[in-house]
Parts: sequence; structure tokens; C-alpha cells
Amino acid sequence: MSELLQIGSPNSRPRIPALDELNLKFSDRAIEELEEIKTHYPDLKSCILPALWIAQREYGGYLSGEAIAEVASRLQRSYAEVEGVATFYTMYNTAHKPGKHKIELCTCLSCHLCGAYRLRDYIKAKLGVGHGETTADGMFTIEEVECLDACDRAPVLQVGDTYHGPVDDAAFDRIIEDLRGREESTVVQMADEIVKVHLRNAT
Ligand code: FES
Repeated sequence: MSELLQIGSPNSRPRIPALDELNLKFSDRAIEELEEIKTHYPDLKSCILPALWIAQREYGGYLSGEAIAEVASRLQRSYAEVEGVATFYTMYNTAHKPGKHKIELCTCLSCHLCGAYRLRDYIKAKLGVGHGETTADGMFTIEEVECLDACDRAPVLQVGDTYHGPVDDAAFDRIIEDLRGREESTVVQMADEIVKVHLRNAT
């Protein structure tokens, strides 16, 4: 099995909470947003994607079993249906809770040819973590990903909604220093931006 497939082994799948032990966590703002989004779609099933973004923000960047159950409950869908959607798209964090900043390193062909594996080794040496791992201080998670569609900037990293490339060791050091100085989690921030886009784009 390739390394990429090892994130989220069967043992790390979220436990499905029983309905009566569900502790709904959406804030008033989140409930308001969801109610607004509901008015833009013909049925509740169509709201699953934006509702998952709200949940990813509300649950600190991670779609735990509880987060998925809350979306299912609020949209009157089954847990399996919402989990199926959430685990299909890699931008939803379902396999493990990411750190404050998720650094996605493209290791696809163009980036590979331009030094992505060498950069991966540098990252591992600098932060002490590899694919699917989070630094002990909870600050950085590294994930290797497929083509980010920015091959002209290879090797490319994505952090939140920002692409960086071409990235060499010195550029990586600068990115890390910048992230260390940030108040907000770029994982949560990106979820919030996407919710805003959903609200804006809905008719
Ligand atoms: S191969 Fe890395 S962005 Fe396309």
C-alpha cells in the first residue's frame, strides 16, 4: 500500500455518536449561516457541502464523528450519507485532526521533477514530521497531495488558501516563520473563507 493511502486507517475512523448523546456545537452565527444557505438550494441534501465547511470551521478544522453527526442531524440526512460526502473530498479533514497549519506538499510529476521529494526530506529534517503527521506543539501538519494545478510554480506548497512556489529550503523557512507568527489557524481561516463564498454565490 502506498504511503498516501495510509492516513485514516480503519482504526482511526471517527466513532459515530448516538443521537441522544449528540452535543450540538454550532454557534449562533453558524446556525444563521446554515439557515441562509438552506434558502438557496432546492433541498437539504444540496446543502451538505457548505454545511460541512461550516462544521469544519466550528469544530476547529476537523470533521470529527460528532461534527459529521451534527451536520447529518441539522440537514435531516443519515450519518452514512454525510460521512460519504465528507470522506470523498480531500479538502475536508476527516482522517485526522490537523495542526494549526496544514502544509500540503505536491509530490506529483512536475513537482517531483523539480525537487518535491528533496523538499520533503528537508521538511522532515526541519520539523521532524512526515506525511500525515503533526508536530508535537500542534502547529504544523504535513500532507503529500496530488497535483495542485500550479505546475508552472513547481515545487508547490499549499497552506490554507495560499499557494507557494517554487519553494526551496530558504523559502520554506520563511513560510514557517510567517506561520508561527500568525494568530489564526489557516485551516480554520480557509473554512471560513469558503463559507463566505458559499453565502455570496448563492442566489
Ligand atoms: S505537479 Fe505539483 S502542482 Fe502540478
